Amino acid sequence: MSDPAAGAKRQAALRAVARVKSGMVVGLGTGSTARFAVEEIGRRLRAGELRDITGVPTSIATREHATQVGIPLATLNDRPSPDLTIDGADEVDPDGNLIKGHGAALLWEKIVASASKKLIIVVDPAKRVQRLGTTRALPVEVVRFGWKTHEAAIRELGAEPALKRGPDGEPISTDEGHYIIDCTFPGGIGDPEAVDRALQRRPGVVETGLFLGFHPELIVGGQ
Ligand code: A5P
Repeated sequence: MSDPAAGAKRQAALRAVARVKSGMVVGLGTGSTARFAVEEIGRRLRAGELRDITGVPTSIATREHATQVGIPLATLNDRPSPDLTIDGADEVDPDGNLIKGHGAALLWEKIVASASKKLIIVVDPAKRVQRLGTTRALPVEVVRFGWKTHEAAIRELGAEPALKRGPDGEPISTDEGHYIIDCTFPGGIGDPEAVDRALQRRPGVVETGLFLGFHPELIVGGQ
C-alpha cells in the first residue's frame, strides 16, 4: 500500500542526512521515515560522497536494512556516544516533546537518543500536534510477566489500554522480548511529565514512548 506522506518523509530524511559528515558515528532510527535516511546514507557511501561512517541501529529491522544498503555498523557498547541520531516520531508537540514507539522500537531508540550528542527528528507535517496523545496512543513497553496488572493503573491515568498486536492477532514482541501496551488518552495527554513518572514508577514497566526534554532538531518534510 502506498504511503501518501512518503514524499514528505523522504524529503525530511534527505535534509537530515545532509548534516551527516564523513567520520561520524550515526544513530540509525526505525520506521518508514528513518528508513529513507538509512537508504540515503547507504547511497552516499556507495557514491563516495561520505566515507568512514559507522551506524548504530535502533532495532533489528534497521540493522538488517542498514546491512543491506552497505552501512558499516557497530553496537552502542562499541560506540557509546554517537555524534548524531536521525529518527522519526509519531507525534511532536510545539516544545519538541515526542511520542515514539509505534514501530515497537522505543526502548532502543530512547537509549540511543539519550547517548547521542545530537538528535534530529524527521517527520511529515501530520505528526505535528498541539498536545501529545491527540492523534496516536502512547506505547508503553512492559515485561510480559503480569502485563495485565498495568491495565487498571493506566485507566486511572485516564487512558484506555490495549495490548499491541500484529496483523496475525498475536501480541507484538519487541527486540528485547517485551510487550507493548498502547494507551489511548481521549483528548490527549494533559500532563506528559506526570503520566511518564506514574508509568515509570510501576515495576514491570520498562520504558514509555514519551520522549520528553530531548530538544531535538526537528525537520518537517514537505514544508
Ligand atoms: C519506531 O518504534 C517509532 O518510534 C518510529 O520512529 C515512529 O513510529 C515513526 O515511524 P514512521 O516514520 O513510520 O511514521
